[in-house]
Amino acid sequence: MMAHVHHRAGRPSSFLVENIDLLPKGRVLDVATGRGRNAVYLAQQGFEVDGIDISLEALDAAGALAVESGASVTFRLMDLENDASLPQEAYDVIICFNYLYRPLIPQLKRSLRLGGMLVYETYIVDQARFGRPKNPKHLLKHNELLEFFHDFRCLRYREGILENQKAIAGFIGVKL
Ligand SMILES: C[S@@+](CC[C@H](N)C(=O)[O-])C[C@H]1O[C@@H](n2cnc3c(N)ncnc32)[C@H](O)[C@@H]1O
Repeated sequence: MMAHVHHRAGRPSSFLVENIDLLPKGRVLDVATGRGRNAVYLAQQGFEVDGIDISLEALDAAGALAVESGASVTFRLMDLENDASLPQEAYDVIICFNYLYRPLIPQLKRSLRLGGMLVYETYIVDQARFGRPKNPKHLLKHNELLEFFHDFRCLRYREGILENQKAIAGFIGVKL
């Protein structure tokens, strides 16, 4: 049996956990995986997961979390803002949590296969009242995720001040 990680840093996003049954089994890309909490959780659920991040330190921690959890994840060092080269129509699921780089969105769409699912959750403009991030470059406008993925079938959307004064939007949709 796989060990489950309980400490806070390793806890997966509740939006992901709540909606895990919607996701088609297969290959997953975790964009800006950080310390790998969501990548490791998905690997434990039987997905084949690639995690990408620019920070070697974060990826080291993610690798350690995977080992500790008995999960197998492929972590890759990549700068998604300068030389992102994602495979086309390769993934069944792409997830992105707490990271926003608007020019990357078209590439994320191309990297999903038809019928594949996108799970995106990050901060909205209202977050600037509570703390970081404050730079509008990293904050979604109201309804912006819905606009980015208007050509997807939306299965879940929520937006507002949720989870202890975190202002976030979350979207789950299918590539048509
Ligand atoms: C707030 S963390 C979120 C980590 C993870 N998705 C989570 O929710 O636990 C943002 C992550 O984006 C990564 N990041 C920032 N700029 C990046 C870039 N240009 N390419 C790839 N990753 C980047 C950071 O290294 C950091 O790990």
